[in-house]
Amino acid sequence: MRIVTSVAAMQRLALQWKRRGTSIGFVPTLGYLHQGHISLVKKARRSVGKRGVVVASIYVNPTQFAPTEDLANYPRDLPRDKELCRDAGVDVLFVPSDKQMYPAWDKAAEDPARGDARPTGFSTYVIEESLSRGMEGESRPTHFRGVTTVVAKLFNIVLPDVAVFGAKDFQQAAVVKRMVRDLHFPVKMVVAPTVREADGLALSSRNKYLSEEEREQAVALWQAIQLARQAVRTSKEAIPSSRLKAELKWLIETRPAARVDYIEFFDPQTLQPMANVQRGAHIALAVVVGKTRLIDNGRL
Ligand code: PAJ
Repeated sequence: MRIVTSVAAMQRLALQWKRRGTSIGFVPTLGYLHQGHISLVKKARRSVGKRGVVVASIYVNPTQFAPTEDLANYPRDLPRDKELCRDAGVDVLFVPSDKQMYPAWDKAAEDPARGDARPTGFSTYVIEESLSRGMEGESRPTHFRGVTTVVAKLFNIVLPDVAVFGAKDFQQAAVVKRMVRDLHFPVKMVVAPTVREADGLALSSRNKYLSEEEREQAVALWQAIQLARQAVRTSKEAIPSSRLKAELKWLIETRPAARVDYIEFFDPQTLQPMANVQRGAHIALAVVVGKTRLIDNGRL
């Protein structure tokens, strides 16, 4: 496995592969990898075959974190990540620095009063204006702008034929798919299923923040999804979403450390909220457990 830290070197490699007709599969991550990320690497390998190349990136992208969020504390373990990537069959691990990714980066010049972590000297963003509005976009107003911008940058550097994202971040996958379509990126988007712990908790780098008690309570997200699924599948009629939301909120908040940020029922194609919920609808929820904000989603 080759480790590349420079944008120019990564782009040169990708251009060489392109000239030779080698398929490029790509998995972008924030690092602190777990089996969810690894499942995406394996999917990328299956999509490009033995003769293709698989690139994974590890970059804790500052523009998708608000000043109040966990950028500085985001968990990191590069030695372990390297090992996991090597074992999973990654050909190139791209690990750029902030200086490489955001030219003219000047941390001292950041102005938190602007409500984001915008580095001066960098002023071009990619903004998706529809699917990114609700749910995560409402709770974290500058988040998706950071995601679409960094993913567009990474696509221009890695030049992937196939990019693999996780269903764990359902709205993110939808927003990036829309960006790819709207801006004509020649990239095939693949969305892989959510990998879960034995009790149903979705794997997430942020699970590391949970204490033992919080970890137990965190299963409430999965239980809420299952309860909603069961309710919808056993009901003859559509269920008013307000009623189901209230029930799920109550169920979740019986755990002392758990507070609901949002619960939403929506059409999985348009992400438009649904007033009445039936089979085929999608649920997404964000719950703060202790100080850790967790998200999950599922089809009903
Ligand atoms: P990160 O949270 O590291 O996730 C990287 C990819 O792994 C995303 O596509 C995410 O959906 C997927 N993933 C996370 N947990 C998963 C699980 N339990 N099962 C399956 N897939 C899972 O998402 C980001 O990073 C960033 O926003 C990024 C796209 C890299 C842009 O900075």
